Amino acid sequence: MTDAKLSLADKDFGYPVLSGTVGPDVVDIRKMYGQTGAFTYDPGFTSTASCQSKLTYIDGDEGVLLHRGYAIGDLAEQSSFMEVAYLLLNGELPNGDELNKFEGTITRHTMLHEQLATFYRGFRRDAHPMAIMCGVVGALSAFYHDSTDIHDPTQRMIASHRLIAKMPTIAAMAYKYSVGQPFQYPDNSLSYTGNFLKMTFGVPAEPYEVNPAVERAMDRIFILHADHEQNASTSTVRLAGSSGANPFACIAAGIACLWGPAHGGANEAALNMLQEIGTPDRIPEFINRAKDKNDPFRLMGFGHRVYKNYDPRATVMQKTVREVFDALKVNDPLFETALRLEELALSDDYFIEKKLFPNVDFYSGVILSAIGFPTSMFTVLFALARTVGWVAQWNEMITDPDQKIGRPRQLYTGPTARDYVPVGQR
Ligand code: CMC
Repeated sequence: MTDAKLSLADKDFGYPVLSGTVGPDVVDIRKMYGQTGAFTYDPGFTSTASCQSKLTYIDGDEGVLLHRGYAIGDLAEQSSFMEVAYLLLNGELPNGDELNKFEGTITRHTMLHEQLATFYRGFRRDAHPMAIMCGVVGALSAFYHDSTDIHDPTQRMIASHRLIAKMPTIAAMAYKYSVGQPFQYPDNSLSYTGNFLKMTFGVPAEPYEVNPAVERAMDRIFILHADHEQNASTSTVRLAGSSGANPFACIAAGIACLWGPAHGGANEAALNMLQEIGTPDRIPEFINRAKDKNDPFRLMGFGHRVYKNYDPRATVMQKTVREVFDALKVNDPLFETALRLEELALSDDYFIEKKLFPNVDFYSGVILSAIGFPTSMFTVLFALARTVGWVAQWNEMITDPDQKIGRPRQLYTGPTARDYVPVGQR
């Protein structure tokens, strides 16, 4: 362990430099305020490690994403979402028996309390499904009191299993509510993802056959979204959880954060953008707008805080588009527009210099739309999958001996102390 030196007001201070198993070292400044009376200033946390974690590693320069050491490409090709969920929660890939047991546990938690159906009816029919997700997941905190002692590992795991298991049911019900169709109960004979597709697209009037190619593609999309280290929504879940808050409420906070267009809302925004562009001949106009400092427009699905190379999830996503199109015998011309947009942007100096590449959200909208989801459901699907990462990170945080309530400080730039003037004298 080497020291980092800081000179401040003619005094020298030393801080330990900590090394992880891989990735940049961190300067441990926990004692800095006590010793120097100064804070560090890092809006957006661009140079700040907020915690230690064993879950996910990203090398943004090389375009590498590992979960517990396994490459995302290998997991997407060879494993299932349930395997990845087990891996993130427990640290190792499950053997056959462990996987069967885990799938059985998740399957048996898929039903919602029947009173929650009434809760849905309180929303306007045209409510955005993410608004419904925030509300309903937050409301779970009022339904499952037996799994909210966060200091009991068994209760924590029950809450985690409930969240992972109920999220597809909640998401499918949000969709059904928006289209005015009856809610579908879970079908325990199906896989996690097959059951979600049936609850979403099945109707009581006729049998629903899960298309295995679509089921596989959807499962892969869930894998690609399962976790992504300390992104905004995960940090939100950790921050909310750091006060000891109810786990269901913490995940509702994560859903709220994910909704924004700079984060999970980008998949919806990316497809809307492709629709607005329409045909490839209009791409240069939009590229010029994205480069114009006076225009707030950005290429949605492009750029990333951490990846300064191709997002490895976008590679898998692009391949999955073709598989879904083949399986469903569709060919959405927007895919051609997306491919051409990527080609033109990646050969443009602006995007090359700023290292802006397609991210996970660039192609996901094209696939989800081919499967039949309206754009408003895209971020809901992201939330469903990311719940696995959120609960794994939340569990890791609670068992971390260094964990404290998250409480950043500030650089105050407001008025200094002044006398109060009664309202009549102002
Ligand atoms: N189109 C045009 N210019 C861009 C874009 C873009 N998509 N992204 C970044 N830039 C420019 C930006 O204007 C800035 O230029 P300058 O240095 O001249 O001011 C530079 O690149 C750096 O951008 P930044 O906003 O400072 O970088 P950031 O790390 O704060 O933001 C980001 C990362 C993902 C929010 C941003 O790239 C963005 O808004 N992308 C579009 C939205 C998007 O696709 N989000 C999904 C992210 S991946 C999934 C997820 O996390 O949920």
